[in-house]
Amino acid sequence: MDHIRFDAGETTLIIACGAGSAPHMAYWGKRLSAAVSYDDIAKLHQRQAAFGSENAPITPSLAMEPATGILGVHGFAAHRAGKDWGGQFVTGSVKHDGQSAIIECRDDRTSIRLCYAIGCDAQTGLITIASQVTNEGSTPLTLNHIATACLPITQNMSDIIGFTGRWANEFQRERLKRFSGCYLRENRRGRTSHDSFPAIILCSENTREQSGEAYGLHLAWSGNHHIRVDTLDDGRVFASMGALFFPGEMQLAPGESYDSPQIIAAYSGKGLSALSRHFHHHVREKLIRADVRTRPRPVHYNSWEAVYFFHNEDHLKAIADKAAAIGVERFVLDDGWFGSRRHDAAGLGDWTVSDAVYPAGLKPLVDHVTGLGMEMGIWFEPEMVNPDSDLFRAHPDWVLRIEGVEQIPYRNQYALDISRKDVADYLFARIDAILSEYDIGYIKWDMNRDLNHPGGQYGTARSHAQVSALYTLIGRIRAAHPDVEIESCSSGGARADMGILAHCDRVWTSDSNDAIDRQEIQRGASYFLPLSVLGSHVGPRHCHITGRHLSIEMRCATALMGHMGTEMNLLTETESDVAVLSQAIALYKSHRGLIHEGDLYRLDTADYNIAMGVVASDKSEALFSLAYLTTHKQTLPDRLYFDGLNPAKNYHIRLIWPVGWTAYRPPSIAENLDLSGGGAIMKGEALMHAGMQMPLSMPETVLLFHLQLVD
Ligand code: GLA
Repeated sequence: MDHIRFDAGETTLIIACGAGSAPHMAYWGKRLSAAVSYDDIAKLHQRQAAFGSENAPITPSLAMEPATGILGVHGFAAHRAGKDWGGQFVTGSVKHDGQSAIIECRDDRTSIRLCYAIGCDAQTGLITIASQVTNEGSTPLTLNHIATACLPITQNMSDIIGFTGRWANEFQRERLKRFSGCYLRENRRGRTSHDSFPAIILCSENTREQSGEAYGLHLAWSGNHHIRVDTLDDGRVFASMGALFFPGEMQLAPGESYDSPQIIAAYSGKGLSALSRHFHHHVREKLIRADVRTRPRPVHYNSWEAVYFFHNEDHLKAIADKAAAIGVERFVLDDGWFGSRRHDAAGLGDWTVSDAVYPAGLKPLVDHVTGLGMEMGIWFEPEMVNPDSDLFRAHPDWVLRIEGVEQIPYRNQYALDISRKDVADYLFARIDAILSEYDIGYIKWDMNRDLNHPGGQYGTARSHAQVSALYTLIGRIRAAHPDVEIESCSSGGARADMGILAHCDRVWTSDSNDAIDRQEIQRGASYFLPLSVLGSHVGPRHCHITGRHLSIEMRCATALMGHMGTEMNLLTETESDVAVLSQAIALYKSHRGLIHEGDLYRLDTADYNIAMGVVASDKSEALFSLAYLTTHKQTLPDRLYFDGLNPAKNYHIRLIWPVGWTAYRPPSIAENLDLSGGGAIMKGEALMHAGMQMPLSMPETVLLFHLQLVD
């Protein structure tokens, strides 16, 4: 077999893997007909020797190991005490069953085996690639650097969309022109990070949400990573990503293997939204557990912004009463219930219920919450310890550190080395004890610091081992408590990626509940993650993070386009705001199946708007959200071009939120078509291609339109 080929969805992928040569990606992009053969492509791609270059053109490989002779980008660097660094992998066996393939390569000179596991989704054409390196020699092998794979990208992908951000403002995008040389992001924070979500999109100049070609790549890993786009001096373009190691971190003893995180990648010829839908399908169908996926996502109440560390059983019971009354289904008790944790400088690590705050344990509160018909959830931050804690006093040696280097505290806490068996066993025992004692169905699993000095007890770097140990620990908890759902939180959205989503059920998208910022944050997160996993809460009127006051209607509409919850003191917010929240919760419940299972369509709009919609896969129903963020430059706003509808069918369109909304300076289209009342019937084709004039609105307003197919 000299190549393997996948034709799926709108994509064709061809990997050349002739025996005796290094495997490389011969084609990845728009689906080709069966009439186009690998031979044709190989012929068309023949390159000549350029001036001042090597005599014969160099063929790249998936690994881009040094011995290919390629100089612009290396995806593999390993050695044995300075030797055996220059091997070249050649294909041995290839197994291919149409949807997946294993390509096994070896380098006999350096005694390293390299194996690729490649999958291709039959529906979307999304591909997954993981690699495994095995030391088949008799001495230790040091792996300095490895890209899971180096993927050639079509040269007319002129634009790079990278991800950046910060605490409380995650998932920001930067679109820039690809340039000669290397676009490189390196994350050394020991968690997925706020500032370098592990993904990249390459697209053409004209690619927009609703049209154009795009390639998206994501690294399913919750730790240090590198992301590169290399434009070589000969014009070829390669995108690569992989886990990033500290010096000496990845040592393979004879016989040992390193398993890379997966690259999850997709191609779209129909714009960025279509690209996102491929990733959403993957997360929903392949990562999220079937029983969680098929259950409606319950409305959350979270205690953090309501009470912070000031826990009081009676107060929380009164809040729970109110939460249940407005339709909340899951009550999550956040930080502050354990040990001496009355503020953020003490108690982390001491995972026993605080006698001072809960003298009778958590049972009275849990019984109260479950008695109201809600599920109880609880917060842990297992990987961390405050120096002022019984755990640290007993085991100061359990923390990650570099000997002789002063620790940098971060929110007054250190990180435990959870790759140690004794530490992992302690954490498992404490979490298991709480879950066994109480009727708790949900964990918010937090992780609130970067790992600045991730050294272990034997002096080696443990950042990579920490992430693997985390996945193992969560796996143990899940095996012991399969009905407990787990949310991944990390100072908001610093651990939201497809690596953790193979082990968790939801991510906390951001600590910012500011609806304006959230519109942008959630839009950014939606490039790779489906709305069903994005925790989004209605925060207090006075936003604690930005200080902004936004209407309850806007806050509700924003939270509704995700996994909805609320996080405010329901006893101190105004009665009228709580009444509107209750209406929004009811609305969410009646549409959550659509929001979570529907296909996402982000719309191209002017900067003052953000618009997106979810359309049922059979196109029978849709819900579109249109946010007015700021005032607009022209006298009237633009038209909105819906997307994803059945062009030939009629839809009953109504403006369902805010309830009874009227435009600024009516009559607008909202009143003329009675959109807030009986609604109007319009052809899908007209809504999508003629577009609908949007009404004049005050800024900081979100309108929700519901469309129901009527024939
Ligand atoms: C982090 C989380 C918050 C909250 C606090 C508790 O900041 O992102 O949601 O749980 O920790 O300390």
